[in-house]
Amino acid sequence: MDIQEVLQWTDEQVFVKTGKHIDSLQSSILKEVWEGEKYHKIAKKCNRSEDHIKQVSRKLWKMLSDILGDDIKQSNVRSILESKAVSSIYNFGNSSQIVNSKINRTHINICGEKRQDAEEAKQRSPFPPESPQNQARSPIIDLTDAPELPYFYDRTSELSTLKQWILQAHTRLITVYGLSGIGKSAIALKLIEQIQTEFDYIIWLSLTNTPALSTLQTELKQFFGRSQQLPLPTIIDYFRSSRCLVILDDVQNIFSSSQLAGQYLAGYEDYGKFFKQIATSSHQSCLILLSWEKPKEIANLEAENLSTRSLHLKGLGQQAAEIFQQKGLVDEEKWSDLIALYQGHPSWLNIIAATILELFDGSVSLFLSEVNDLFVGDLEPILDSHLERLSGSEKKALYWLATQNETVDISRKATDSELSQPEFWQAIQSLARRGLVEKVLVGGRSLFFLNPVFKAYIQCR
Ligand SMILES: Nc1ncnc2c1ncn2[C@@H]1O[C@H](COP(=O)(O)OP(=O)(O)OP(=O)(O)O)[C@@H](O)[C@H]1O
Ligand SMILES: [Mg+2]
Repeated sequence: MDIQEVLQWTDEQVFVKTGKHIDSLQSSILKEVWEGEKYHKIAKKCNRSEDHIKQVSRKLWKMLSDILGDDIKQSNVRSILESKAVSSIYNFGNSSQIVNSKINRTHINICGEKRQDAEEAKQRSPFPPESPQNQARSPIIDLTDAPELPYFYDRTSELSTLKQWILQAHTRLITVYGLSGIGKSAIALKLIEQIQTEFDYIIWLSLTNTPALSTLQTELKQFFGRSQQLPLPTIIDYFRSSRCLVILDDVQNIFSSSQLAGQYLAGYEDYGKFFKQIATSSHQSCLILLSWEKPKEIANLEAENLSTRSLHLKGLGQQAAEIFQQKGLVDEEKWSDLIALYQGHPSWLNIIAATILELFDGSVSLFLSEVNDLFVGDLEPILDSHLERLSGSEKKALYWLATQNETVDISRKATDSELSQPEFWQAIQSLARRGLVEKVLVGGRSLFFLNPVFKAYIQCR
């Protein structure tokens, strides 16, 4: 439902109660607040003083509160109007019928019911009941499927990118992709903690058990339906009527092995349509996918700039030193070498730190001086789990890249590679969508290189 439809519906409610229509300034305020604009900006756009805009807005919120029976403010006007408009339209067929039949309050969300659910939600919320997150707004949160992560360091810039996409740009579909253990679930949990008050519903669902799309949708509807009086027909309807944040974790499970990245398993292709529908329909919610691979249509939608973004999550950088601090490693002056060697990958660093404790009593210097090649040790099964998923052409490109000493300019034909140029490019593109191959810009040219840990692992195999 877009702003025009909601404005029309709101105007009808106002007219029924007061005999007057919304005037043009009230309508502009509603439109701008809908887009998240602040009063001083609205004042500028409407060529009025900020005080005047605030005064008109105050009266507008009061009038709408009286008419609709909710405490309407600048911060909640969008979600309340949309929710009421959608639920009325579904109950009455279309908005103009409402004018004729007047509003039947029993068909509209009742505030008290929502509050009861909100109390329940606070108990399920991962944050203390009196924390600011739980005070400002009470979203209904279900993190039953989310992992528990006791530590969290850094990610300041990635978190601010994600917040900008969600809160300012209103991006509807976001993919956070990267290697296993790089911290996708961790950053999504932190994000929820920071933006939960902006949503009415937040749910985390894992695709580990490869649920059919219909099963997933039923689960989502049951969750959203808990505090709505009448069930809505589709997920998109819930996404329109409320601000919902849905995190789908372990999305790589619905992609097939031995094929290029992001190809759906047989019988799971409808997920692709669902993701596309979420990206292209108008609504006020956000779906975040956490995956080892970037889905194919996400790349295409991104190319068309259709409210879709993706974040390739990489290592932690020097903040990863906190992992060593917490584990009790010594030789702090060598920690940055160790971080660079394992690219700040938090899970790999945790595993290597455990090895250093076991074999070298925590001495990073000893470990680095004793180990000539890059030590893989307990990382082996993790690295294998990525390699096992590759297609034939990706394996060929990967093995070829492992023999290169420098970054590769793919516009020059890899003469000693077994692949044709198009096959080679497609394989490189796919490996990049898995985060195994990375790109650097040198002198205006894109150069590609294989993740150094995988390179060392393949070379020693
Ligand atoms: N920002 C962080 N600060 C501290 N530790 C982190 C951070 N990110 C990840 N970790 C550590 O790395 C481990 C793996 O993180 P996480 O489960 O988020 O990875 P993932 O990318 O979701 O992996 P997978 O794809 O296998 O689910 C966690 O157990 C956690 O200990
Ligand atoms: Mg995870």
